[in-house]
Amino acid sequence: MSGMTPSAASLYDRVQRVIPAIEWPVFSDDIDAILRLKRERNAVILAHNYQTPEIFHCVADIVGDSLALARKAMEVEADVIVLAGVHFMAETAKLLNPSKTVLIPDMGAGCSLADSITSEDIRLLRQRYPGVPVVTYVNTSAAVKAESDICCTSGNAKAVVESLGVPRVLMLPDEYLAQNIAAQTDVEIIAWKGHCEVHERFTPQDIREMRAAHPGVTVLAHPECPPEVVAEADFAGSTAAMSDYVGREKPARVVLVTECSMSDNVAVDHPDVEFIRPCNLCPHMKLITLGNIRSALERNEHAVTIDPAVAVRARLAVERMLAV
Ligand code: 13P
Ligand code: SF4
Repeated sequence: MSGMTPSAASLYDRVQRVIPAIEWPVFSDDIDAILRLKRERNAVILAHNYQTPEIFHCVADIVGDSLALARKAMEVEADVIVLAGVHFMAETAKLLNPSKTVLIPDMGAGCSLADSITSEDIRLLRQRYPGVPVVTYVNTSAAVKAESDICCTSGNAKAVVESLGVPRVLMLPDEYLAQNIAAQTDVEIIAWKGHCEVHERFTPQDIREMRAAHPGVTVLAHPECPPEVVAEADFAGSTAAMSDYVGREKPARVVLVTECSMSDNVAVDHPDVEFIRPCNLCPHMKLITLGNIRSALERNEHAVTIDPAVAVRARLAVERMLAV
């Protein structure tokens, strides 16, 4: 968003292809209130690519994949960061910009990957694989990051793994991301059995059916999908990489094999691309709404805090990733 202070009325044009006019009155009051509250509280809103279009296009100041949100959180000068995304993203923002108030509008916005592993699990893995570095996906708690050598995202996982200069790494907790990266590198990767509840549901059969129903469709998949699904796709990459692919290649028809809001958000900027929309909803991402972003700013809720002893070690793992 740029230029003069916008109002909800002036923003509708941008999203009218993905938000029916009949739904707009439900959003406009909250949008105006949030735009006002951001100025009053000197706040910025960071939104992940899976947020709904009225959040992503109408109130967010910074949007992107997990890697971009982490990098940009570090540079925020405003007093307050509202993270429209899931809890691990808010924790990462707090780790990287600890003097700011970081708010998450719903504390229940978790992640099946983050829930799949504990810091105790990592300590046990270190005993089992002594000396093998631990690469942890950012989709984890700060406590898990604190036990790790370095973090990664889906956007930089291969580079992070190869940056360590070792023959073998533990890559946790997403089994499918680990397998998809293992297929691209000579480094041996030991995986964990965590899965994203959104991406694990796609099957190779889904992709074959999409291709049969929509001839010529370009299939882009997130690397949290099972390897058999990625093998059927034309391209696999992080949410930002998928969005960039659409902008660069301008496929006539495309399907984004990922969370549902992604297609809406990308479609806004690409009216000439036909989006085929089988998708799965992330119940955690969808807990964030304009209503609870507004009350987060009104009530200063829910502030993310991290035990300082944990934060020091978790920050190191994230900073090592950002240095790669
Ligand atoms: P990205 O880093 O690709 O945005 O992915 C985050 C996520 O939660 C995907 O499910
Ligand atoms: Fe976690 Fe999957 Fe939701 Fe992303 S889409 S936040 S990995 S459950």
